[in-house]
Amino acid sequence: MAVGGGISAGNGKQYEGRVTPFVIVACLVAATGGLIFGYDIGISGGVTSMDEFLQKFFPAVYEKQKNATGHESQYCKFENHMLTLFTSSLYLAALVASFFASATTRKFGRKISMTIGGMVFLVGAILNGAAINVAMLIIGRILLGVGIGYANQSIPVYLSEMAPAKLRGALNIGFQMATTIGIFAANLVNYGTAQMKANGWRVSLALAAAPALIMTIGALFLPDTPNSLIERGLKDQAKEMLQKIRGTPNVHDEFSDLVDASVVSQQVRHPWRTILEPKYRPQLVITCLIPLFQQLTGINVIMFYAPVLFKTLGFADDASLMSAVVTGLVNVFATAVSIVVVDRFGRRVLFLEGGIQMLACQIGVGVLIASVFGVSGNGTFSKELGNLALALICIYVAAFAWSWGPLGWLVPSEIHPMEIRSAGQSINVSINMFFTFVIGQLFLSMLCHMKFGLFFFFGGWVLLMTVFVYFFVPETKNMPIEEMNRVWKAHWFWGKYIPDDAVGLSHKSSDHDA
Ligand code: BGC
Repeated sequence: MAVGGGISAGNGKQYEGRVTPFVIVACLVAATGGLIFGYDIGISGGVTSMDEFLQKFFPAVYEKQKNATGHESQYCKFENHMLTLFTSSLYLAALVASFFASATTRKFGRKISMTIGGMVFLVGAILNGAAINVAMLIIGRILLGVGIGYANQSIPVYLSEMAPAKLRGALNIGFQMATTIGIFAANLVNYGTAQMKANGWRVSLALAAAPALIMTIGALFLPDTPNSLIERGLKDQAKEMLQKIRGTPNVHDEFSDLVDASVVSQQVRHPWRTILEPKYRPQLVITCLIPLFQQLTGINVIMFYAPVLFKTLGFADDASLMSAVVTGLVNVFATAVSIVVVDRFGRRVLFLEGGIQMLACQIGVGVLIASVFGVSGNGTFSKELGNLALALICIYVAAFAWSWGPLGWLVPSEIHPMEIRSAGQSINVSINMFFTFVIGQLFLSMLCHMKFGLFFFFGGWVLLMTVFVYFFVPETKNMPIEEMNRVWKAHWFWGKYIPDDAVGLSHKSSDHDA
C-alpha cells in the first residue's frame, strides 16, 4: 500500500518517500499503549460504586452511604474524599514516573520506555486483581500509575517521530483512539461485572492485564525511531530504519535534518535547564498550558463520574451506567473524525471549533441544572429534560474528542526540537496527570459547593483556552518535526524568541550547551 508519491512537508519542505505499510503497522502497535491509559480512566468509577468492593476495602464509606438520610442536597450526596483518593492516586504515581521515563526515553530509546511501561502496568493489574487488603490495592494502583507515566511519556513522541509529516496528526491520534477504546471497553466491563454476585470488582481490575499484555508484547517487536537511533549514535541503523519506514533508499534530505538535530541534541547535557532558555519559551509555555487546559475542559468529570452525574440528574442505576456507555461510544466515534481531518484542516480549526461547541454545551447544561435544582439542590429532572441533558453532554464529549482530547497529546509531542523533546513531553505528562488528579479529587466537592456553577466554571476556562489558541498556538500540520522552528519563527508573537540561525539549518545555534 503506497499513499502518495512525495511527502509534502509544508512551507516548501519536501522529503522523498511514501507512507509504507511498515510505518502504519508500527504506529498502530505503538498506539495500543493508549488502551492501558483508557482502561484505567474508565474502570475506577464503576468499581468504586460496587458494594462488595466498598465493604471489603472502604467499610466506613460503605456505612456512610448506606445510612445516608436521603435528605441531603442532590449536589452533595456523593462527596467522599477517601474514595476519590483511590481513583486519583494513580495519577500522582504517573506524574513522578514520567520524569524517570524522560531519562529512559532519551538514553535508551522510546521502545524501551514503552516496554517498561507495559510490564510495570501488568504487575499492577495482577496485584489489583488478586488484592486481599488495601495495601495490595494501593501498591497495585501505584504500579499502574508508573506504567501509564512511562507509556504516555514515550508513545506520543514515538508516533510523532515515526510518522511522515503529512500523516503525523492521524497516526499520532491512534494513541487517543486507543485511549477512548480503553475507556469504552472499561465501561462495558463494568456494566457486565456489576451484575455479578461476587468478585465483580476483581474481574474489572484484573482485566486491565489484557491491554497491558497487548501493549507489552507489541512493544517488544517494535523498531525504534530513526530520531532516537541517531540521538544514541546509531547512525547506520537509523538510516536503514528511515529507508524502511519511508519506503525509499533516497532519504538523504530527511536523514541529514535528523543528523543536524542530533548534533544540537548531543551537546545538551541538561535538557531540564536547557528547556528554560528563552529560545525554547514558546514550546515551554505551550507544553505547560495545553495539558492544563485539556483537564480544565472538565472532561474527566464525565469520564470518571458519568454514572454518578447521571444519578445526580435523577437517572436510575441501570440507566446511569448505560448513559456512561453512550458517552463512551460517542467519544470513540468522534475521535475518528479528528483522525480524518487533522492533517487536512489542521490543529487550529479543531481546537477552535471544539472549544466553541464545548462552551455552548456547558452553558446549556448549567442553565438546565440551575432551572431544575436551583441553588438548594432539591428537585427532579423530567424524562425529557434528563434526555436533553444527556444529549448536551454527548455533544460536549464529541467536541472534546475531536479537539482537546487528541490534540492535547499530539501538539506537545510535535513542537519540541530533539534536544528537549523528552523533557518537554515529561512536562506535558506530569501537568496532565497532576490536573487529572486534582479534578478527580475535587470534582465531587466542587459539585457540592459550586452546584450548577461548576459547569460555568469549566465553561469559563474553555473560553479562555479558545482565545489562547486563537492568538498563541500556530498551525503545525504537515511541518517536519525537526523543522518546527520555522513555524515558531513565522509566528507574530513567538517569532522574536527564535534565533535566526535556528531556522532552516535545523537549529544550528551556538548557545545550546546547558
Ligand atoms: C485525556 C484524559 C481523558 C480522555 C478522554 C485524554 O486525552 O488526557 O484525561 O480522560 O482523553 O477520552
